[in-house]
Amino acid sequence: MLRFLVLFRRMLWVFQFTESRSEEISSPCDQYKKGITEILTSLRPQFLTEVPMKVLAINGSPHMDRGNTALILQPLLEGMKDAGAEVDLFYSRNLNIQPCIGDLSCWIKHPGECAQKDDMQILYPKFRAAEALVFASPVYYAGVTGSLKNLIDRMLPLHSFAQGKDVRRQKVVLVSTCAAWEMEMFKPLLVQFEAICPKTEDSPMQLAGALLRPHAHSLKPMLHGNSRPLAEDVLKAARQAGTELATENSISQKTLERVSQELMAKDAYEKAMQEWFLHPDDSM
Ligand SMILES: Cc1cc2nc3c(=O)[nH]c(=O)nc-3n(C[C@H](O)[C@H](O)[C@H](O)COP(=O)(O)O)c2cc1C
Repeated sequence: MLRFLVLFRRMLWVFQFTESRSEEISSPCDQYKKGITEILTSLRPQFLTEVPMKVLAINGSPHMDRGNTALILQPLLEGMKDAGAEVDLFYSRNLNIQPCIGDLSCWIKHPGECAQKDDMQILYPKFRAAEALVFASPVYYAGVTGSLKNLIDRMLPLHSFAQGKDVRRQKVVLVSTCAAWEMEMFKPLLVQFEAICPKTEDSPMQLAGALLRPHAHSLKPMLHGNSRPLAEDVLKAARQAGTELATENSISQKTLERVSQELMAKDAYEKAMQEWFLHPDDSM
């Protein structure tokens, strides 16, 4: 098997090399080689020839690794790493990112360059190199957290006219959790991300999927109780989503629905939440 793979890879190299040297020649032999190259390229196993997908993930929850949002984000990123992706994770709470001052100098005076020199300067090269961006946030008043919104507004230099048509087209994944039982709570957030990532050909960002976890406060207690398999299935689905994105560039609807699946009846959840507000502890 290994021999076959090595041979396959060599064949690819040979054909790609001869093709790259024969741009101006177009004899029937060259055309034949070009055809073979196209067939081999379409057949190649991903892990043989492709560079790993670069992913930049931002967790906007002030609870960082301890929060509900991290419960979904972590397996998602693990799934991406399983599939060979290179993942960089930042927490907006830990970054010094000032709000955008709105002078548009990044579009007009110094296209592509932000006038403010703070931790966004660390992120700009990472944004430019990434093929996929993951934005994770709890729902805060129907939107993302303030620190994540500041960061998103500061992405403007990346989308200036100066980028022209050379701009890298990036996949975007949204991860969010909320306290409410209903999926409807995510609607405004989804509308915002669908607007940021329009389904047009020239859009620099494309929404690959949204991992939405309603009644998120049921997850932690369930992971430590009798209903563990159900809660674990949510985490497995999040991991699966990561693998799908890194290998297929998309996330299936089935996997997204597993992440959002109902974990308990609305009445039971709301009762448990009321109890918890009266006697708060680390369980939720
Ligand atoms: C300031 C604030 C605003 C919130 N707004 C909403 C809201 O509009 N809808 C909702 O369902 N939950 C809301 N929540 C609850 C969080 O979305 C929920 O607890 C989330 O799972 C927390 O994630 P984390 O543990 O990763 O921070 C809010 C919480 C805070 C602190």
